[in-house]
Amino acid sequence: MNKIEQTLSIIKPDAVERNLDKEIKEIFKDKGFNITKEKKIQVSKVEAEQFYKVHETKPFYNDLCAYLSSGPIVVMILEKDNAVLENRELMGATNPKDAKDGTIRKKFGISIDKNSIHGSDSIENAKKEIDFFFKY
Ligand code: CMP
Repeated sequence: MNKIEQTLSIIKPDAVERNLDKEIKEIFKDKGFNITKEKKIQVSKVEAEQFYKVHETKPFYNDLCAYLSSGPIVVMILEKDNAVLENRELMGATNPKDAKDGTIRKKFGISIDKNSIHGSDSIENAKKEIDFFFKY
């Protein structure tokens, strides 16, 4: 059964830097996602470390947090039936070179780090990630 869900999406610094945010938002809207809240911000390294805490033991954690805080990002709440899974499918594989045709990472991603977009990987994490950016 379909169920309206919310998920968190981040347009990462590499995509904002290339002025791709408007085009990426149009892709979401064309696919039936409502962007119910959005803001362009720049996070500090400490905030990036809190956001990506789940990855803190990974070898790429430091670079990942340095990268997310390196420039402006656009954070959005996306709403749709089955939004979490459908957003994951529309984003494509983490590494753009493995992403399928028609996905955002295939179209815009540069590398596994500069992969243009982040999306929550579960309903539980979507709630946490939405709270992280939009609670106040
Ligand atoms: P994202 O979906 O934002 O979640 C964590 C990010 O870590 C991921 O996208 C990648 O950009 C980045 N990353 C860097 N190296 C790796 C790796 N080896 N495996 C998974 N994610 C990685």
